[in-house]
Amino acid sequence: MAKFLVTGGAGFIGGNFLHIMVNRYPNDQYVCIDALTYAGNMETLEPIMNKPNFKFVHEDITNREAVYKLFEEEHFDYVINFAAESHVDRSIENPEVFLKTNILGTQVLMDACRKYGIKRYHQVSTDEVYGDLPLDRPDLFFHEDTPIHTSSPYSASKASADLLVLAYHRTFHLPVTISRCSNNYGPYHFPEKLIPLMIQKALRNEKLPVYGNGLNVRDWLYVGDHCNAIDLIVRKGRDGEVYNIGGHNEKTNLEVVKTILKALGKPESLIEYVKDRPGHDLRYAMDPTKIETELGWKPEHNFDTGIVATIKWNLENQEWLKHVESGEYQNWMKRHY
Ligand SMILES: NC(=O)c1ccc[n+]([C@@H]2O[C@H](COP(=O)([O-])OP(=O)(O)OC[C@H]3O[C@@H](n4cnc5c(N)ncnc54)[C@H](O)[C@@H]3O)[C@@H](O)[C@H]2O)c1
Repeated sequence: MAKFLVTGGAGFIGGNFLHIMVNRYPNDQYVCIDALTYAGNMETLEPIMNKPNFKFVHEDITNREAVYKLFEEEHFDYVINFAAESHVDRSIENPEVFLKTNILGTQVLMDACRKYGIKRYHQVSTDEVYGDLPLDRPDLFFHEDTPIHTSSPYSASKASADLLVLAYHRTFHLPVTISRCSNNYGPYHFPEKLIPLMIQKALRNEKLPVYGNGLNVRDWLYVGDHCNAIDLIVRKGRDGEVYNIGGHNEKTNLEVVKTILKALGKPESLIEYVKDRPGHDLRYAMDPTKIETELGWKPEHNFDTGIVATIKWNLENQEWLKHVESGEYQNWMKRHY
């Protein structure tokens, strides 16, 4: 039996991770801490709230005193840090909270790991730390040793955290791993992000806003495949190592939007081109050879199957989506306590 601290589990990827792991490993204990920012949604955790191996704690990872108290009480074996401010557009509007949560929050967690001892600290990072690749060089990919080269306050904060994690390994011998994943999509995705936003707008026959010319390329990975990769790294990865995660599913934003419209039987005339995001990265593309060869990871979904599963989930979970859109999800705590 092992005890896991999972931070940011009321968010998109952390929530999917908990759904899978709490059921897959009934003998392990999972404690989730989440500050419940606008991106945290307790309705995401409802399916596992009553599981005997799951516990939720409403807390901020930057609250050192509370984090230390939790470590002292719980004796964690593993810490997996999903908690972050994660939306690039918001980081352009207001960088400060990104630096606080993404960098200082990471520091607090690792200090607690040093003080109380753990088997492994895992940092959930992103392909965005590598910056972008040119659109006319499809032969280029991000490798684990590609230099850090960030574009937005979001990616700069994630890259800073990664450097700090590696420094804690080198200086304090903290057993750490880092995963850097490409863009995720799937169930429980907050509808401010491209795929769920476009699905919702298409369902309502509203205009689908596409940045610039829509030719920016992202490498899409189904969220369950990301979660399985993290599970492998945490249990079998090597200390001090970075692992890239991606499924070679590069699509332009326009291709993604057209796929959604086609699947929902909606016309392409709903597409509306809007002013580009400042500093918009052109292309992300991951080389996942290391995790494939070293840990035997393989994604179960490609984009064609993953997008069908995602659209189906969105159609079947309109109540969850509508609660997010109306803000109703933020009343969960009031309704239950
Ligand atoms: N979404 C992607 O495509 C993607 C891809 C690669 C990596 N990542 C990384 O994966 C992680 C999770 O991303 P996501 O898309 O699930 O994000 P999300 O925004 O959906 O969820 C983040 C969660 O963290 C919580 N949180 C924020 N600040 C906190 C704080 N100070 N203390 C405690 N909890 C706090 C929020 O309430 C929310 O529940 C992030 O670290 C992100 O950088 C995301």
